[in-house]
Amino acid sequence: MNVTLFGLGYVGTVTATCLAARGHRVVGVDTDSGKAAAVNAGRPPVIEPGLEELLARAVESGALRATESVRDGLADSDLSLVCVGTPSATNGSTDLVQVRRVVGEIGATIATSDRPHTVVIRSTVPPGTVDDVVVPLLEQASGRTIGSDLQVAMCPEFLREGSSVADFFGPPFLVIGGAPAAAAAVRELFGFLDCSVHVVETRSAESVKYACNAFHALKVSFANELSRLYRMLDVDSRQVMDVFVQDRQLNISPAYLRPGFAFGGSCLPKDLRSLLYLGRMNNVDLPVLEASLATNEMLVREVADRILASVDDAATNPAHNRRVALLGLSFKHNTDDLRESPNVTLAEILIGKGLDVRIYDQVVNPAQLSGANLRYVQARLPHLQKVLHDDVAEALCGAHVAVVSSADRAVADAVVAAKPPVVLDLSGRLGAPLETLDGYQGVGW
Ligand SMILES: NC(=O)c1ccc[n+]([C@@H]2O[C@H](COP(=O)([O-])OP(=O)(O)OC[C@H]3O[C@@H](n4cnc5c(N)ncnc54)[C@H](O)[C@@H]3O)[C@@H](O)[C@H]2O)c1
Repeated sequence: MNVTLFGLGYVGTVTATCLAARGHRVVGVDTDSGKAAAVNAGRPPVIEPGLEELLARAVESGALRATESVRDGLADSDLSLVCVGTPSATNGSTDLVQVRRVVGEIGATIATSDRPHTVVIRSTVPPGTVDDVVVPLLEQASGRTIGSDLQVAMCPEFLREGSSVADFFGPPFLVIGGAPAAAAAVRELFGFLDCSVHVVETRSAESVKYACNAFHALKVSFANELSRLYRMLDVDSRQVMDVFVQDRQLNISPAYLRPGFAFGGSCLPKDLRSLLYLGRMNNVDLPVLEASLATNEMLVREVADRILASVDDAATNPAHNRRVALLGLSFKHNTDDLRESPNVTLAEILIGKGLDVRIYDQVVNPAQLSGANLRYVQARLPHLQKVLHDDVAEALCGAHVAVVSSADRAVADAVVAAKPPVVLDLSGRLGAPLETLDGYQGVGW
């Protein structure tokens, strides 16, 4: 393909070079005349292992050249790849000045041609940027509308400085956001990569990149925070983490990474509190672990607020029906352990606000609760016996809102049959049968 690549920084130079090395004809465009000149002289403007040799060969073969002129860069082009910087503004927002400028220039230049063109955003941009900023700008500047002769896609970059050439050729995946024709052009561009391809909504493609970087930052902070505490406790945190990463079932795995409801139960909150206490005793601040408890509590409050707002919404609830069915009470599926269950907290809040709460849980039987479990529920939900129903249809009868915390398929089927006006799915697992309902609202879906 004939590719024009905007921004010869770390991402742009590596991408331009590697694409040229795999048979594309690439013209790099940069406003920095020194960078364009360096590339044309066969010298990379950034230092990366393996780049110098690859770039020199690409320039020598004629597959790669650089220019300061947008018009020159786009003279014979099928596709623009935007790799300009998206730095932080002083208030933390993403400065899109470079992206806006390049997109405007691409639009103005292709306005004078009738050759079809695809614009691919490779820079890291906040969710919504392509739809809300790039597309309108491009349409206005080019006089075209997105469709047959103008395509736009988002395709985030995952390389790391220091190993960028190796990362470019061996990415974790290729993520593409955009219409099928745009996605097809991006697939063709990166056809030489041996990795999975995920074509998703444009906003998701933008967001995956932020999720990855936030998670990487969280991992570093988590390990370092624990090691600051463990040092004070005379624990070898490297040994701990060497073992920790061996767990591929729960630790280094997809487990616990599905959006849904809050965590709870007899272990996670208790053991987090224990670590926080040890931190206090040893004068070690543990903001990451503290935030984990705080954000968990925040989620319960937000869900309670959403339920209360649904009940109070006169437009959807003209009869002021205050009945809510809570389907699932324990902290997770297939256990009757109610200790620190976020569903118990939710029930407490809603009952406290005067809602008519009916609870169903296929496993919880108040007559069989004992020990700490029984004491916990007696303290938090003394009237559990009165609000607990042993038939899911009965719990749902006449409810304005169904809150689904169970992963039981029979519960989903009962909700589908009852069709309550509002269905809040906290299970994170039952999306498909419930999503067909008019009043469906997911948490994290
Ligand atoms: N650096 C990384 O490791 C990395 C990894 C993945 C994604 N990203 C993302 O990729 C994007 C680029 O990052 P980078 O580190 O390569 O940035 P960079 O600052 O090194 O390079 C940006 C380049 O764009 C050029 N430029 C600015 N305005 C221009 C214009 N109007 N026309 C042509 N060129 C223009 C600049 O002169 C500069 O050479 C950012 O959005 C970044 O978040 C970076």
